[in-house]
Amino acid sequence: MDTNKISLNRILRRISVEFNLLHIKVSKFYRSFYPDQHQLTSTTSENRYPQLFEEARKALAGQADTQTRILSYGCSTGEECFTLKEYFPNSKIIGVDINKSNLRFAQSKIDDPDIQFLMSSEENIKAAGPYQAIFCLSVLCRWEDTKFLQNCEKIYPFTKYEATTSFLASQIQKGGLLIIYNSNFRFEDTRGFNEFDVVDTPTVSDSGFVVKFDSNNNRVSAPHRHCIYRKRY
Ligand SMILES: C[S@@+](CC[C@H](N)C(=O)[O-])C[C@H]1O[C@@H](n2cnc3c(N)ncnc32)[C@H](O)[C@@H]1O
Repeated sequence: MDTNKISLNRILRRISVEFNLLHIKVSKFYRSFYPDQHQLTSTTSENRYPQLFEEARKALAGQADTQTRILSYGCSTGEECFTLKEYFPNSKIIGVDINKSNLRFAQSKIDDPDIQFLMSSEENIKAAGPYQAIFCLSVLCRWEDTKFLQNCEKIYPFTKYEATTSFLASQIQKGGLLIIYNSNFRFEDTRGFNEFDVVDTPTVSDSGFVVKFDSNNNRVSAPHRHCIYRKRY
């Protein structure tokens, strides 16, 4: 191995380390401007979780009618709402997001009075509710920032997750569903869970690939299975 190759490898490694450190600093700076934001990225696609949508449809069978309102919390550029309209054709779908350009793009793609996009705020969510189902998919997390952490408190504390899920839970009608997938925490660890029962989902065997932390923000290794919860009557 010639010495030129060895030094080039060292330089490349060094650049990669420096680049990662810079990325962490820039993300931290960016986050400081958006204290209400959960997941930072906007990745989405149509029918992204077909089995989960199907399980939710089964769980709401007989309950979803023209009065039914379904909330997509963290709807990104709208694909999730268009998909939900296909699974729940008679329902009103409300998509909220904290990112204005996502919402503008979502709005530009439709002209359907049964699908509405709103800025995410407690006032807007309350005004459009209550809901028969609230979907929180790939939003109540910081991915991949938390991927290698043993404790996530500094990046995404449990208190923030609990505050948001408690508020969303309060906007669900009795018998309605809270669906949480790819989150950094387990709904079972929150106080709000006391009002809910777990819904069995035979075709969905986990709650996503995002790593989980407990209510003290410490990483848990045990697999987590549940992702649909029903508010008790
Ligand atoms: C990875 S995308 C998930 C999109 C879609 N739910 C899916 O699974 O395909 C996460 C979205 O959550 C949004 N988000 C982050 N914090 C939010 C908040 N406080 N309220 C509503 N949306 C939020 C982001 O702007 C982003 O569009």
